[in-house]
Amino acid sequence: MVFRTAAIVGSVFATALVRAAQPGAAVPIAAPMRDLVWGKINFLHTTDTHGWHGGHLQESQYSADWGDYVSFAEHFRRAADEYGVDVLLVDTGDRVEGNGLYDASNPKGKYYYDIYREQDVDIICTGNHELYQASTADEEHRQTVPNFKNNYVASNLDYVDPKSGQRMPMAQRYRRFRTKNQKLDIVAFGFLFDFAGNANNTAVQPVRKTIQEPWFQDAIREPTDLFVVIGHIGVRMQEFKDIFTAIRKQNPLTPILFFGGHHHVRDATAHDSRSFALASGRYFETIGWMSVDGDLKQAGAADKAETESAAAVSFHRRYIDNNLYGLHYHTGLNASTFPTEHGRNVTAMIAKARKELDLDDRLGCAPQNYWISRAPYPHKDSIYSWLEEEVLPDVAVNDSRKHVPRLVLVNTGAIRFDIFKGAFTRDTTSIVSPFLSRLRYIADVPYGVARKVVTLLNNGGQLDYPADARFMAVPEMLSIKESIIHETNPFQSESHQQKPLGGSDPRDREPVLIEGYTTRDDIGTDGDDSIHAPINFYTVPNCVQAEVGFPSDGEPDKVDLVFIDFIQPWVLVALKFSGGDYSEEDAQPYRPESITELMTGWIKENWGADC
Ligand SMILES: *[C@@H]1O[C@H](CO)[C@@H](O)[C@H](O)[C@H]1NC(C)=O
Ligand SMILES: *[C@@H]1O[C@H](CO)[C@@H](O)[C@H](O)[C@H]1NC(C)=O
Ligand SMILES: *[C@@H]1O[C@H](CO)[C@@H](O)[C@H](O)[C@H]1NC(C)=O
Ligand SMILES: *[C@@H]1O[C@H](CO)[C@@H](O)[C@H](O)[C@H]1NC(C)=O
Repeated sequence: MVFRTAAIVGSVFATALVRAAQPGAAVPIAAPMRDLVWGKINFLHTTDTHGWHGGHLQESQYSADWGDYVSFAEHFRRAADEYGVDVLLVDTGDRVEGNGLYDASNPKGKYYYDIYREQDVDIICTGNHELYQASTADEEHRQTVPNFKNNYVASNLDYVDPKSGQRMPMAQRYRRFRTKNQKLDIVAFGFLFDFAGNANNTAVQPVRKTIQEPWFQDAIREPTDLFVVIGHIGVRMQEFKDIFTAIRKQNPLTPILFFGGHHHVRDATAHDSRSFALASGRYFETIGWMSVDGDLKQAGAADKAETESAAAVSFHRRYIDNNLYGLHYHTGLNASTFPTEHGRNVTAMIAKARKELDLDDRLGCAPQNYWISRAPYPHKDSIYSWLEEEVLPDVAVNDSRKHVPRLVLVNTGAIRFDIFKGAFTRDTTSIVSPFLSRLRYIADVPYGVARKVVTLLNNGGQLDYPADARFMAVPEMLSIKESIIHETNPFQSESHQQKPLGGSDPRDREPVLIEGYTTRDDIGTDGDDSIHAPINFYTVPNCVQAEVGFPSDGEPDKVDLVFIDFIQPWVLVALKFSGGDYSEEDAQPYRPESITELMTGWIKENWGADC
């Protein structure tokens, strides 16, 4: 079934001329587009939005906001009704932490919960970021779970009631429902990967154990047309493989869909010919699209009837760049017909919240772009080189210890996003450094011992760490070995790629592509809805290290080993391995401020406010 929503939606909506997106957001630029392929059942998927519900105001490719997504979904539901097919919305967690709209309020999320709930999400689950702070988990339980009462699924997550101390499921373990138009029967689960860093008011049960529980074993024996497994889990992670194996064992033919996240990448794969898995990026840059076509009633019924064959099913996926150009394109609408009343209301809610939070307040002016992974490390354009060479030497100072040379270790995952040349605002602060982590130190560590730590943190995979050492890096690094780093552009030939634009070669007359995702997944290279010029990505280490106050000649005998508190468990293991037997009691606070406060303090002092 191939049709463009454009053909259906038409110009039903006649409203005043409005553009939507946030005031001041970058205006999207036209790009060559690929259409969405519709099926009997269709999904829109968001994941790891991390508070970016106002959109990316500085990046035109991702500048649409949550209100625009509300409008988009409304048009799609209407189109689906018209054609007698279904559209479902899925969100796979990490909705919080990483943007001023969530982080800059006191308490955090003061505006976010009410904005988020305006979207009708059909299946929703929890990510690890909802659980680091006890207060965040409390709010998730107090607000988002009831806001999505029938749709929130927590297959392996419990909440501990603060008053009674009683442990209970965070939400229903699974959801069984029938779709509106196709009347497809769906059994849906919502999992979190085997996460161990949660605050003590929640409990995550390992997936391997959960799938042995009676309720799960019963649920996968319920005859159904389609299993939909959503999870805050990378689509190639073992957790999904285990769930797939368990369901498939009982249901040789029923289609199984997976919606994943956590790794912040666009990715798609298939565990077999009757299953499909989609990951839809990060930071509300991407709206994932999955469609399933075929005689799904018959496809699921085959297992019930214990026949050995079933109707064929087919799957499609698309990664929609979240900007108005694309959202208009896929609906066939324009600036005046696209925004619905509800969508515009949500856009206005966001604008009001951003204003009340003073998110546009300028702290300083970034003299250049600083990249997380678009520049190698070390490099003058690397945000980590900037941190190591400029910021840390100035801010990692404790008055009573300032005479002692120090090694300062910061995990790269502490910095979450690029800094763009120009205004560095209150919003940018939360975007770049949303965490509350502080510096701690161990005094007078023999230099010979201390110097080995950074190498072990970056390459000590064999050490008996409390958790994967890669958790210290940005989540994007988790997928690097597994697949899809967007390094080449499949739409340009090798020879063309290197050529400067504007030569005499006729191929140079192709439209100038703007930079963006050029995804390669297991299905192919045609996943992105917008055709982009490629961006090169580089790997970054787990941790970077600054040497501060070192003697100009020779090496110090002893140093203070200063590190961000998040990595203390790894640091202690690495120290022990290199011959320093220290425990938690040896570590003390080094600075009272958070790393975020230290960084913004530095910016206020060192970057002029005049952009
Ligand atoms: C959970 O952690 C908090 C803060 O560290 C502590 O006060 C509380 O006693 C702990 N609760 C349980 C049940 O362990
Ligand atoms: C949008 O489309 C409607 C209906 O096709 C048309 O009347 C209107 O002029 C268009 N508006 C803009 C801004 O293009
Ligand atoms: C939009 O907001 C207006 C004004 O607050 C309200 O009257 C209206 O019901 C809202 N509409 C929708 C669809 O949310
Ligand atoms: C310096 O370190 C000492 C010892 O850990 C600590 O008590 C003190 O608060 C620190 N000073 C500052 C300014 O953080």
